[in-house]
Amino acid sequence: METKILSADDTDSTNAAVDEAVAILNEGGVVALPTETVYGLAADAMNADAVAQVFAIKERPSFDPLIVHVQGPEYLDEVAKDIPESVYELTDAFWPGALTFILPRTESVPDIVTAGLDTVAVRMSGNPVMKAVVEKLGRPVAAPSANRFGRISPTSAAAVEEELGGKIPLIINGGACHWGVESTIVRVEDPVPTHDKPKIRITVLRAGPVTVEDLKKLGRVRVENEPAASGETPEAPGRVESHYAPATPLRLLSSPKDFVPEEGKRYALMSFRGLDKDGYVPLHKWEHVEILSPGSGKLPEAAVRLFHVMRKLDALGVDEIIAEPVRDHLLGRAILERLKRAAIKG
Ligand code: TXA
Ligand code: MG
Repeated sequence: METKILSADDTDSTNAAVDEAVAILNEGGVVALPTETVYGLAADAMNADAVAQVFAIKERPSFDPLIVHVQGPEYLDEVAKDIPESVYELTDAFWPGALTFILPRTESVPDIVTAGLDTVAVRMSGNPVMKAVVEKLGRPVAAPSANRFGRISPTSAAAVEEELGGKIPLIINGGACHWGVESTIVRVEDPVPTHDKPKIRITVLRAGPVTVEDLKKLGRVRVENEPAASGETPEAPGRVESHYAPATPLRLLSSPKDFVPEEGKRYALMSFRGLDKDGYVPLHKWEHVEILSPGSGKLPEAAVRLFHVMRKLDALGVDEIIAEPVRDHLLGRAILERLKRAAIKG
């Protein structure tokens, strides 16, 4: 199949691209679309056959459920029921945006979308293309990241083409993604009214652009689903361990002291801030060095470049990619979670 790439860089080209995407979705086809996090592979969420194609094209196991994109908070009840009131406080604060809720599902959502679970993952994207497509289609859109299963999420149209070129009819090029890492996934519970200081209870299942620190302004936050150590196998839906993985083995260090090179092996370094004399760059005569946030060590810049840099290092054909850790706060949490999962061999 030939994969067409359409640009969406001004109003006219965006409108034309959106029309074409909606036409494909209406016919039960799939199309790759930009979002503010990563590119998604979209299908009409209410069409089980269309969603089946997403699983087939991604080679995604049927036990791993998809995220559904809706037009706004007022459309949540099309796919979810028994929605805690507190969810709307979070949508007020963070939608459209990179926040996904796990909610009890309605019967109208096909089983294949939720992998048979009684919950559904829902978000609203603020990306102009994704937003317009969902509005124009007038139905929820299922869209996981547009990569082959377990691989690095695409943050550009070129990366989608690398992953799925020849397998899908259309990619809409909306430029580089704003965040570069996938949405934060949460479960929300209403405050217990009898409690002294009633607070929304928020459980973070996947760290992302809406940070724990952001969420703490609205409620009590707990972080779950820390990646298990390599070798453990708690493989429930939504908890696939190895992920975001380059084909090249990747090792996440916790200290420069942990790096002991093996004779004859070729190593590439993924550094966070780069030229720190006590850091990782001077440790070794690296085959190649990529710095996520040159000079400034800024987390948003590092997050935006993370998957792009991982792809680039993976293409070098070195024996191992060595990753420098980042601080486990703000967006660093999301970066670290991806690095940990990339380092697990699946
Ligand atoms: O930013 C994003 O969320 C991107 C863009 C394209 O929207 N999408 C994305 O989808 O990252 P995906 O499929 O690559 O990751 C969705 C994650 C998976 O780990 C899946 O297992 C989990 O969400 N998930 C989906 N439904 C779930 C549910 N009902 N309960 C628990 N986890 C769920
Ligand atoms: Mg994914």
